[in-house]
Amino acid sequence: MSESNGVPLLLKAARGQKVDRPPVWMMRQAGRYMKVYRDLRDKYPSFRDRSENPDLAIEISLQPWRAFQPDGVIMFSDILTPLPGMGINFDIVESKGPVIDPPIRTQAQIDNLRTLDPEESLPFIKTILNSLRSEVGNQSTVLGFVGAPWTLAAYAIEGKSSKNYSVIKGMAFSQPQMLHQFLAHIADSIAIYIRYQIDCGAQVVQMFDSWAGELSPQDYETFALPYHQRVVKQVKETHPDTPLILYISGSAGILERMSQSGVDIVSVDWTLDMAEARARLGQDMKVQGNMDPGVLFGSKDFIRDRILDTINKAGDSGHIMNLGHGVLVGTPEENVEHFFATAKEFRY
Ligand code: CP3
Repeated sequence: MSESNGVPLLLKAARGQKVDRPPVWMMRQAGRYMKVYRDLRDKYPSFRDRSENPDLAIEISLQPWRAFQPDGVIMFSDILTPLPGMGINFDIVESKGPVIDPPIRTQAQIDNLRTLDPEESLPFIKTILNSLRSEVGNQSTVLGFVGAPWTLAAYAIEGKSSKNYSVIKGMAFSQPQMLHQFLAHIADSIAIYIRYQIDCGAQVVQMFDSWAGELSPQDYETFALPYHQRVVKQVKETHPDTPLILYISGSAGILERMSQSGVDIVSVDWTLDMAEARARLGQDMKVQGNMDPGVLFGSKDFIRDRILDTINKAGDSGHIMNLGHGVLVGTPEENVEHFFATAKEFRY
């Protein structure tokens, strides 16, 4: 097979090359909506075991691959996974979500953080990504991912999932220097982590700043955007050819600002019409998304119509079909299958 034939579809689209249909994958495609995942979770109840034992993480990453042959296979992990390597412990507690105990609230805690050394603290990531690459070959693209500084800081400072982000905003608006020191530390470690994922086999890396949409535009420019730029700049210095995707939930008010991060692809949530997102981002920016995950609770015909509508609005290049956020718990697996089959049948 020649080099160009060997490049998988998602990687081609992410580079802006001509493709005959949009590649398709789903955020959170490995996880609780799948019965095989729930069965495995019953056997291995600890999330950290499932994501840090390479055999389990590889198996879980491949569950959606075997079921639906998506064009992207994302490693099973979590945005919080690198935190212990910086000196911040976490767990994921059933029905409660992430727990960081003790939360990061003081200057002394921030001064004591370590810079991430992935070879030392995340050796399982190498095994996972290496195996995924050899497992899917050129049939699919292996995606790595990280959390962005604002969202990781939000978990570390709040100590858990938050509704209104009052603790981190309290810090932002009364001790901004301390928060900036923390965000800069996370940014530098996350850049190291992305480079490591790429060296281990990740072909595209998505950065999730899931909760940056909780910031006003001016605060996004102060507490999120500069750290996107800091991460992207460091990664592009050594790995200029690996496409980077940025996802923010609730990003309609800051869409143009997201382009200033330096990423190659903006992942668009569903509160924005895809045609408008294209118009606002310009033809040079590639896009991902943006179907409402709730559509997968609808009828087959409705799902098909919405997929085609999204693809048509996104235009015939530089679009990766995806949902506007992660697939929801309780989504019927047959509708996920229909989502993939419909997108894969499409031709421009
Ligand atoms: O996409 C994939 O298939 C890879 C798996 C993946 C997980 N977390 C596994 C997981 C990815 C990409 C993530 C990213 C992640 N983690 C984000 C960004 C994506 C987004 O949705 O905005 C965020 C904000 C987190 C933090 C986090 N971890 C949350 C909010 C939760 C869910 C809490 C809950 O119980 O509802 C987790 C735990 C987690 N990470 C689960 C999975 C499958 C569920 C727990 C379980 O399966 O036991």
